[in-house]
Amino acid sequence: MTLIVMGIESSCDETSVAIMKDDTLISNVTATQEVHASYGGVVPELASRAHAQNIIPVIHTSLKYANLQKKDVNVVAFTLGPGLVGSLMVGISFAKSFAQALNIPIVAVDHLYAHIFASFIQFPNEKHPVPEFPFLCLTVSGGHTQLLKVSDYDDIKIIGETIDDAAGEAFDKAAKILGLPYPGGPMIDKLAKSGDPHYFHFTKPKVPDFQFSFSGLKTSLLYLVRDNLKKDPDFIEKYKQHLAASYQRTIVEILVEKTLKAAKEFGLKNIVLAGGVSANSELRQTFINNGKQLGYKTFIPPINLTTDNGAMIAYLGKILYERGVTSPLSVKQYATGERR
Ligand code: KG4
Ligand code: ZN
Repeated sequence: MTLIVMGIESSCDETSVAIMKDDTLISNVTATQEVHASYGGVVPELASRAHAQNIIPVIHTSLKYANLQKKDVNVVAFTLGPGLVGSLMVGISFAKSFAQALNIPIVAVDHLYAHIFASFIQFPNEKHPVPEFPFLCLTVSGGHTQLLKVSDYDDIKIIGETIDDAAGEAFDKAAKILGLPYPGGPMIDKLAKSGDPHYFHFTKPKVPDFQFSFSGLKTSLLYLVRDNLKKDPDFIEKYKQHLAASYQRTIVEILVEKTLKAAKEFGLKNIVLAGGVSANSELRQTFINNGKQLGYKTFIPPINLTTDNGAMIAYLGKILYERGVTSPLSVKQYATGERR
């Protein structure tokens, strides 16, 4: 029998609903909230309001793309956390009511775990190779930066993580310093393409083992810009490409160095990138090039599955369901920073 799983993601600023038909993703519709652009970050109250407005139209559009009706859905998977409480509650309440109305099971999914497996998602008419367990995963998003040893869907160990800002936060805060809109990552990525990555020098943080730190880097950029603006009010305008390229190069180098060190130390030959920052063109290219030279396999999701999406929730929800996992209606969201 065919299994139809709907995945609902609403942990931050994307309302996204996807549908998997057995092993294949047949629909993934995302409403991105433009409302945060001028604030330099996500405004939680505005985010939950936008989710409440978007959720029903996104559900309808996703079902339409999949050429299915509500009654065809067998399981509803949704993000339980971590994320913004108000945003999560919109997706969770919708998922629970939808499932109750149709009398079908629900599966609560951890957002960070879901990111890890985005590379496993298959599309119609196109089968691609997937990572082999155990693999090393670098999760880099707006809220997290983690190196993980992934031995199975439910056997994931943290090797290292950031002690302050996440990599995505480093991009977003730099963009704010340069007067660019939120989210900053895509803007910096674009500007960096026409800049000199060695024009400015930023000192890399000295943190032990597999930990990361990005807050000092952001402060270096802030001071560099502040000091130069005193001498030349057009400094940002004149140098923004070089600033973006040099700043981005530093972040990429930090991420790549630590990941390769972990791959070597733990003897892992498959490296997976996950999370919004894995959309970064320089990060993707550097990992692919290094992989070829050093003999490891690199897996990076297609761009639309790097940032928050319902597809990764549907995928992990389906795997968990097939392993016998369902959730009670009483499950409650957990916020960023809270462990399940
Ligand atoms: O995974 P995600 O959509 O949300 C969280 O779970 O946090 O990641 C969003 C983050 C933002 O910080 C955004 O600036 C960053 O991913 N991002 C990028 C790029 N595209 C998105 N960072 C660098 N380069 C990009 N091309
Ligand atoms: Zn995310």
